[in-house]
Amino acid sequence: MPHHRPAAPQRGASLHPTPRQATPRRYLMCPPAHFKVTYSINPWMDPAKPVDLPLALAQWEDLRDRYRALGHTVELLDAQPGLPDMVFAANGATVVDGRVLGARFAHRERAGEAGVHLDWFRANGFADIHEPAHVNEGEGDFAVTASYLLAGRGFRSSPLSHDEAQEFFGRPVIGLDLVDPRYYHLDTALCVLDTAGDEIMYYPGAFSPGSRSVLARLFPDALIADEQDAEQLGLNAVSDGRHVLLPQAALGLFEPLRSRGFEPIGMDLGELLKGGGSVKCCTQELRP
Ligand code: ARG
Repeated sequence: MPHHRPAAPQRGASLHPTPRQATPRRYLMCPPAHFKVTYSINPWMDPAKPVDLPLALAQWEDLRDRYRALGHTVELLDAQPGLPDMVFAANGATVVDGRVLGARFAHRERAGEAGVHLDWFRANGFADIHEPAHVNEGEGDFAVTASYLLAGRGFRSSPLSHDEAQEFFGRPVIGLDLVDPRYYHLDTALCVLDTAGDEIMYYPGAFSPGSRSVLARLFPDALIADEQDAEQLGLNAVSDGRHVLLPQAALGLFEPLRSRGFEPIGMDLGELLKGGGSVKCCTQELRP
């Protein structure tokens, strides 16, 4: 679908005309072996719409293989029957400096996922693990920049989880209020592009006026996404500092990313979109 829009000049657009440097990452993913949409806990989920499971698996394998081809390490979690949303591995924990903040899910349908993640960390040499007292949906609502831990609230993670995360990680938490149910997790509306600096892209419409002001103050050079790209879950992206893997339908983001020196890589995760997730939702980053 060609979509022609005038290229909006943005602050920071030509700050980095030279290519960026990728750094090798370690990701945790879970194959969509039992993925289906049998309940609806976000507006994207319609149990009446059939899911093509072999296609979902093929799309997910493409993403996994792409990470590996880029030189990243992908660890795998075993999918469990009865936990159809487990493919959205980003929600299962938040790992910074090798320290693991477990998740606690808002909906009982996903509650069982938290323990599967904790077991994986225990079995894989992570010693510093905190089982949370308050509801947090992992990297769905926590985003790590060089200076901050950005933390979404409003639909899933409890505001009380923000203090808990700040205390555990010793990083300043910036609470952000999500106001549009389509963007129920922070990672559906905001993506960290450069973790060595504080560079992000986001869709302002997903946030309360006060939170928009906070974002504008902290990230004056952010790449601002428009509604068309946000609606394709274009912000649900993963950056290694150079390559930005994002839903291929978010066409409007490609040029602005290139002009900043990033290399956008479009992915088709159309079947997983039926669960309300895309690239980032499928990817938990294990930060050393
Ligand atoms: N169906 C899942 C839910 O609503 C999708 C989770 C998407 N994950 C994410 N990191 N945004 O919980």
